[in-house]
Amino acid sequence: MSEWIVVGSLQDIPENEIVPFSHGAGDYILVRRGDEISAFVDLCSHQDIKLSEFGEIQRGVLICHAHGAAFDCKDGKELCFPATAPLQIIPARINAGLVEIQL
Ligand code: FES
Repeated sequence: MSEWIVVGSLQDIPENEIVPFSHGAGDYILVRRGDEISAFVDLCSHQDIKLSEFGEIQRGVLICHAHGAAFDCKDGKELCFPATAPLQIIPARINAGLVEIQL
């Protein structure tokens, strides 16, 4: 059964950065855009390389520098080759200033 997990305060999450966090055996990343937050499994959809190590946000796009794939920061949709699938998105929300994800 899934549950909402508090990750931290929104104000502590910098914008335009990939913020990694772990819960249980899972590794995830957060991407903040103003007062919106998105969460993804910490793996590029191209070759399962960690975006927390090889990723960067450039002009609102998440770039994987391993091979140059790009993804939409909001929904993880793949934007260019070599990625042919979206990132695995995790439900995320802001509740009373706290960032929560559903696992
Ligand atoms: S692993 Fe990310 S582009 Fe290849």
